[in-house]
Amino acid sequence: MTIGFILNGEDVVVRTEAGVRLIDILRGNFGLLGSKTSCLEGQCGACTVIFNGQVSPACLLPAFKIRGSEIITIEGFSQTIEYHEIMDGFRLANLGNCGYCMPGKILCTSALLDRTLSPSKKEILIGFSGIKCRCTNVENLLEAVNIISGIRHKRLYGRSS
Ligand code: FES
Ligand code: FES
Repeated sequence: MTIGFILNGEDVVVRTEAGVRLIDILRGNFGLLGSKTSCLEGQCGACTVIFNGQVSPACLLPAFKIRGSEIITIEGFSQTIEYHEIMDGFRLANLGNCGYCMPGKILCTSALLDRTLSPSKKEILIGFSGIKCRCTNVENLLEAVNIISGIRHKRLYGRSS
């Protein structure tokens, strides 16, 4: 089948089978390797993308569901100011990591701060519940989100919070 959708702001068309996973289309057809394959069961978050405005595991999205949708991968998101703010916050908080689930953590941070600019600890933990990261210390993650929230506040309102 032929499927059209918007990928990182561009209209694209792909020929594939209805049940092929979005993660395999992104990596195999478009060479977008930022999102990873791991559990393939929607459990780990390594394959996270933004699908119609929501963070979603690309391993659970079959091709037939993506027709007409809008998808943003970490490659597309890396062109935004929000991406650079998040990376600054991760660096400042020494968010130790191997990088494997980094795209998922970055996209979840952005989605969380889009929902609420000053998230509580509970909201942060819920926002990251779809990412099973083996190497991030929770305290560092909370610190990173608070730093990024302050950076975004300052850009939007001219003050940290
Ligand atoms: S590979 Fe998709 S959630 Fe683990
Ligand atoms: S950064 Fe290593 S698994 Fe998340």
